[in-house]
Amino acid sequence: STFITLDSGYKNTGATKSAITFLDGEEGILRYRGYPIEELAAKSSFIEVAYLLIYGELPTQTQLTDFQFRVSRHTLVHEDMLKFFDGYPSKTHPMGQLASLVCCLSAFYPESLHPNQTPEEVELNIIRMFAKMPTIVSWIYKKAIGHPVMYPKNKFDYVSNYLYMTFGHRTEEYDLDPVIVDAMNKLLILHADHEQNCSTSTVRIVGSSDCNLFASISAGVAALWGPLHGGANQAVIEMLELIKKDGGDVDKWVAKAKDKNDSFRLMGFGHRVYKNFDPRAKIIKEACDNVLNKLGIQDPVLDIAKKLEEVALHDEYFIERKLYPNVDFYSGIIYRALGFPTDMFTVLFALGRLPGWVAQWKEMRENKEPIGRPRQVYVGSTTREYIPLEKR
Ligand code: CMC
Repeated sequence: STFITLDSGYKNTGATKSAITFLDGEEGILRYRGYPIEELAAKSSFIEVAYLLIYGELPTQTQLTDFQFRVSRHTLVHEDMLKFFDGYPSKTHPMGQLASLVCCLSAFYPESLHPNQTPEEVELNIIRMFAKMPTIVSWIYKKAIGHPVMYPKNKFDYVSNYLYMTFGHRTEEYDLDPVIVDAMNKLLILHADHEQNCSTSTVRIVGSSDCNLFASISAGVAALWGPLHGGANQAVIEMLELIKKDGGDVDKWVAKAKDKNDSFRLMGFGHRVYKNFDPRAKIIKEACDNVLNKLGIQDPVLDIAKKLEEVALHDEYFIERKLYPNVDFYSGIIYRALGFPTDMFTVLFALGRLPGWVAQWKEMRENKEPIGRPRQVYVGSTTREYIPLEKR
């Protein structure tokens, strides 16, 4: 029989060849298509990085203008989709809504289901997916707060349009704050791809069955929802608030995280691949100080975060296990400062990760990868004698 190698959690198994993102966990290096994340975060806009990830090259001005134009033609979401929003209980978690609404797009574009689509048809659905995501994400927020949804204004760029649909009101003009636009661009760029993480692997494996783009991305959203992955940004803020409410005794919570009889973990600490530092956390920490300063925000939760970081970074348990603050440790603090409610944080991660998911789905198809189908090491019983019901 075939010899099966067991690698729980795929800690050391390469599932694919990819030319999109390079990651060196020991050195704390992250590059998209060869470009260091530090440079992209400082110099590029999110839509430029999306183009880079999806098409492999940084766009020329003409290519970027054309891409922006094509995307802006598809930012409207079918009006019938609003009926879905009406059906959700008001407390529905935004990630649950996002997963189902993205999947629903397949109902409005049934041609996306056909195998053997031409590259032009595939491309059109990629543009649709990318264009409609900010509209859907903003509608989830508007519905949650009971406000009328906003329609896209295509004179705005991708990120500004999203902010306008989220924080703008039908009744008044909306002034975009450049500090917020800049912070949002940075955050989305930092989240845009991260090689074969849980949600991206999910998108590839679902897509490998020839499943349509919308359903594949929806599966990625579901994978991202979990608190060990994208859900960590919500969990971090909830943890910091809990520590604050409990009197702010950081040592007590660090002790809890170290206690093997306690399931509590320090949210926002540790990473499967980064064992020295998370380069995204470095950039985001700086951006965080910057945004809070510029917006003049004093957040007591930030003081708890700083104390926690201080204690954990000098604690043997965390040093030995190479546990450092990850990207999610700081992103939540910025999202809060920008005015997002905590349960929207993971949706913002999804908005940022979308180009990565799309690029990886496209690469998987173009490379004609076989269907993903892991094996197992069977540990159940050997053949057993069947006992009729009346004798059991
Ligand atoms: N707090 C306390 N102990 C921890 C933590 C933590 N946050 N993370 C790992 N450990 C311990 C763990 O108990 C284990 O200890 P021991 O060797 O004594 O059993 C050791 O460190 C190794 O942990 P692991 O669970 O085997 O590592 P992993 O690579 O399977 O897990 C992780 C990586 C990110 C899921 C984990 O570190 C974690 O749960 N962190 C908190 C959640 C979080 O912040 N997730 C966001 C990750 S970054 C963004 C993203 O990918 O979405």
